[in-house]
Amino acid sequence: MNRYLGRLIVLEGLDGAGTTSQAEHLLAFFQKSQMPCHKTAQPSKRAIGQLIRQCLQGHVDAPAPLAMNFLFAADREDHLSSEILPKLEQGIHVICDRYVLSSLVYQQVAGVSRKDIISANQHAYRPDLTILLDVSAHTAAERRSHRLLAPELYEKDVFLEQAAKLYRKEAEALQAEGQSIAIIDGNQTMEEVTESIKQAIGPYFS
Ligand code: TMP
Repeated sequence: MNRYLGRLIVLEGLDGAGTTSQAEHLLAFFQKSQMPCHKTAQPSKRAIGQLIRQCLQGHVDAPAPLAMNFLFAADREDHLSSEILPKLEQGIHVICDRYVLSSLVYQQVAGVSRKDIISANQHAYRPDLTILLDVSAHTAAERRSHRLLAPELYEKDVFLEQAAKLYRKEAEALQAEGQSIAIIDGNQTMEEVTESIKQAIGPYFS
């Protein structure tokens, strides 16, 4: 159990897995239950996060994978100290759309060693619960095809097929290390996924 009254709940999954919509639903659920809650995402909206977003969208040249690894880790540290930890300290629960598991998966597929990713993220606060929305690369691609925005840096079918496999593997590895990870079938309907998430978080708020 972490040292703060507020709980850090992380949503993870492939681009198209539905983490952003489910974060909204979870926030609404907390608000309805009169539990103080704050929703946020990584990359963050702060300076380093904005630079990462520019790289992802191709507005500036993306640095080499190892440098991207450091940028994601630096953004995480800055986001934690400026936004996440102060909320948790005040007893406000935080829902974060993506966190360390995203780095473990995406940066590894991009070619960074697991050791370098773990090392860059060694100071990251441990989430109370990470929820993986496990979707097939096919389902995620289908959902992304309805988006109007241009695909970002990692939104390529081959990349995300590898990421889908690695998500399961890394989630299980973190579980084996004693981290709280819930793996939810993200191929279900939106409502079913929301229901599964509510069930998964139940024990952390009783
Ligand atoms: P988003 O589209 O969910 O906002 O995520 C942005 C992209 O950044 C997505 O393709 C996943 C990727 N990403 C990483 O590669 N490493 C990370 O640590 C994080 C947080 C995101």
